[in-house]
Amino acid sequence: MTTFTQLSSGQRPKISIHPDRKLSKINDNIYGGFTEHMGRCIYGGLYDPENANKNLIDENGFRKDVIEAMKELNVPVVRYPGGNFVATYHWLDGVGPQEKRPRRPELAWLGVESNQFGTDEFMKWCEIVGTEPYLALNFGTGTLDEALAWLEYCNSTQDTEYANLRRKNGREEPYNVKYWALGNECWGPWQVEQMTKEDYAKKAYQWAKALKLLDPSITLILCGETGHSTWDFYTLKECVRWDQHALGAGNITASLIDMHSIHIYTASDDPVKNSVAPRSAERAIEICSGLIDLARIENNVPASVPRQTICFDEWNVWDPQRAPGDQGAEERYTLSDALAVAVWLNVFIRQSKYVGMANIAQSVNVISPLMTSKDGLLKQTTWSPLLLFSKYMRGWTIATHVSCESYEGETDPKWLRAAMDTPWLDVSATLNEGGWVSVVVVNVHLRESFGVEMQGLSSRNGTVKVYTVAGKEWDTVNTAGKETIGIEEGEWDAQGEYTFPSLSITMLRWQL
Ligand code: AHR
Repeated sequence: MTTFTQLSSGQRPKISIHPDRKLSKINDNIYGGFTEHMGRCIYGGLYDPENANKNLIDENGFRKDVIEAMKELNVPVVRYPGGNFVATYHWLDGVGPQEKRPRRPELAWLGVESNQFGTDEFMKWCEIVGTEPYLALNFGTGTLDEALAWLEYCNSTQDTEYANLRRKNGREEPYNVKYWALGNECWGPWQVEQMTKEDYAKKAYQWAKALKLLDPSITLILCGETGHSTWDFYTLKECVRWDQHALGAGNITASLIDMHSIHIYTASDDPVKNSVAPRSAERAIEICSGLIDLARIENNVPASVPRQTICFDEWNVWDPQRAPGDQGAEERYTLSDALAVAVWLNVFIRQSKYVGMANIAQSVNVISPLMTSKDGLLKQTTWSPLLLFSKYMRGWTIATHVSCESYEGETDPKWLRAAMDTPWLDVSATLNEGGWVSVVVVNVHLRESFGVEMQGLSSRNGTVKVYTVAGKEWDTVNTAGKETIGIEEGEWDAQGEYTFPSLSITMLRWQL
């Protein structure tokens, strides 16, 4: 939580940090990824066996440079196989001998799916990366039987058909997939088998019951919308309830629904609107957490059932007009987009009490910080904030107060103007187990730097580590061989004010 006092021109900005006020634990899963069968995310991204440059490919056909980047980011969980793709995906097409797998028309992005990469390939990739798989179920053309069979294939140790199929395909031990999503964006008009909220809620609850009967250890994720919609209100009200018959008498510590998924993409052609737009996601989280509480209150869910958290399993900067989905959505990210991504991540830190997982959409090539070519990997501007946050912004969110001037112009979305403050300095702060306080300050102003009095911290050895991502022009992009926007490291002697340059992301780190 960061509180804010609006200053007028000429007043001296201040940021006060309170490491003694630990507010909420940050779930490491906010640094999750997402890989969909879309554009060049899987084929040419994760999996590239045809690449002539054999040094880039491992014995499984996986891109080694992508695996290294995922390891560097320390990505804890990766969602798969979609996205919109999942609404017509039959998982059985993607297991067993590769030469026998069917090629099928693909209706989300209007391509052809070869099924050369499927469940076992994804699980192997996750094991190599050291990340946890998160699977989304087909709520479009899929059946409950198919979903149960997939869960059995992945998690069962019994002597049953699909567990045995997994063994036959070379995997004796279960994969123990914990996270399962009950569909994806089922509300969207672009979706195969788009649903009404009434139809979805009824189906999701019944599927949840069956899935948890088969494996009560899984975490089930309801398909929400933006967090601030009637769909979210209704589906939470219908599905976040406690039904003792659903889970066996006396079981009052579990619930069928554990998390609620929401998606938001932000973007604007105006660089300041673009950088402050993720504040709309902050309001969405606040509203959605209220809707979760409302459902629990009205449905008399006992306090012994853990509070459902938000699974923000698609977020990023994306303008689908600029980078259309059916053309692979290969966004070229600017410095302004890097600032926006840092504000997005500040939002997750400030709202860590409510966010159980967040997944940048997507991990490779499709609206991604990482772009492969046949010769190597480009790290776009948005890579740097993601890396800095994932490395250092873990542990606890701590209380922070910012006093500065703010951007008062129009916003994108328009409703944000009345709903949230948009200070020029967007700030969050954490305290980790090693006693390090990390503060991220994003200065979204195009021209003005701000000298700021930093209050409340003194470091053990008198110096503060500094990491800066900055540039002169908001539209600077990184290109192959010229990654202009990156991380600069330095130190500050903690004397006087710290000056945050225009168009910059600054991380300051104190060891207490
Ligand atoms: O991430 C790209 C697409 O955006 C996903 O497939 C879909 O869920 C969303 O609309």
